Amino acid sequence: MKRENWGSRFGFIMAAAGSAIGLGNIWKFPYLAGSEGGGAFLLVYLFFMVTIGFCIMAAEIAMGRRTQQSPVGAFLSLGGKGWVIFGYLATIAAFIILSYYSVVGGWTIAYFVKTLTGGLATTDAVTHGDNFGALISSPIEPIIYHGVFMALTILIVLKGVNSGIEKASEVLMPLLFALMIIMVIRAVTLPGAMEGIKFFLQPNWDQFDMGTVSAAMGQAFFSLSLGMGAIITYGSYVSKSDRIPGSAGYIVTLDTSIAFLAGMMILPAVFAFNVDPGAGPGLTFITLPAIFEQMWAGTFFQAAFFLMLAIAALTSAISLLNNPVSYLEDNHGMNRQTATIIVGVGIFLLGVPSSLAMGVWGDVSFFGKDFFSLCEFLTDKLLLPIGGIAVSVMAGWVAYPLIVEELTNKGTAQFAYLPVWSFVCRIFAPLAILYILVSGLLV
Ligand code: PFF
Repeated sequence: MKRENWGSRFGFIMAAAGSAIGLGNIWKFPYLAGSEGGGAFLLVYLFFMVTIGFCIMAAEIAMGRRTQQSPVGAFLSLGGKGWVIFGYLATIAAFIILSYYSVVGGWTIAYFVKTLTGGLATTDAVTHGDNFGALISSPIEPIIYHGVFMALTILIVLKGVNSGIEKASEVLMPLLFALMIIMVIRAVTLPGAMEGIKFFLQPNWDQFDMGTVSAAMGQAFFSLSLGMGAIITYGSYVSKSDRIPGSAGYIVTLDTSIAFLAGMMILPAVFAFNVDPGAGPGLTFITLPAIFEQMWAGTFFQAAFFLMLAIAALTSAISLLNNPVSYLEDNHGMNRQTATIIVGVGIFLLGVPSSLAMGVWGDVSFFGKDFFSLCEFLTDKLLLPIGGIAVSVMAGWVAYPLIVEELTNKGTAQFAYLPVWSFVCRIFAPLAILYILVSGLLV
């Protein structure tokens, strides 16, 4: 059977950007930049995005298009039995990530609902901090929203994703972009915003250490949806005539721009409202409502923003759920409906302790971490780097000629950066990621 293709190259780029752009860019990036030293973190992050990020993005798309399969099948067909394990690890990573991703996705839906019902109307950042703390630490409310978020993800994946994701992404991604630019303009014109802009753009090397490097690389992978096969699967629907390096370039540029805009939107506001930039996961949820309150038609923009954020999170969640589901379909002959429901419910259940870790289970520790942080650690610091090394060695060595054929459309299309791409995939990426993997485990 001929495999389905994206309707257009633009559609693929928007769908892959839809997978890449999500909570990682808008919620996680600013708070990481805030706690990891601002400008220094930004520079290291940019470096990883354009080197390893771009090269592995191109490699994953090429692996998918070459094999026309999702990760388990792709690793098997390119490398043989010994490589299948990396397909499985990628699939497990997607499962774990979605479990805690959906908890945060639930918070965005909660904020959308609370904005509409007037529950967030105050300009005081401290009160917003208290509201946010109360929401996430409650034993029931965030779990209900986590359930709603998973239910929406399941519904879309059940229906089959291609035309759905592609169509939705083509409209939503440009809208998100436009809305964020308006927000940035408001944020940088707040009194006191300059401090935040400086903090974000001026590298402060005093705070720079191996922890910064490892956090920046983990974030580059997470943000681009790399290392867990989501992009391999999306690559399998790419038309044979598309130029992969160009598409990868667009996706990386869009993803980086949205993270940058998120930083420019949140960090100036953090300083304007005297919030601690190292405040962690609450940063977005505390500072943004305070800005919205100061804006003309703030409630409208706030509702629109949290809706967009929820949708950006959904387009990422779909690509995560799709991974284990297509594995069960392809390798165990399960039908899509059953697979989606089993996996979706399993992920929901695994997310419950992550949600409780924000409140009643905050003190329950697993290897010295609460459950949410444990899941983040397992994926960001362990599974994603392992997936990244596997992809770069596969593309750079094991299946090199086949992958190069894909990148150059059998030699008919130019890829001027091929020597750089080869060097990064063969030498730089495996060594750099290995170093960060090992040092990340020792910290
Ligand atoms: N890239 C998404 C984000 O930045 O929010 C998260 C993500 C989606 C990670 C899909 C992995 C993935 F397969």
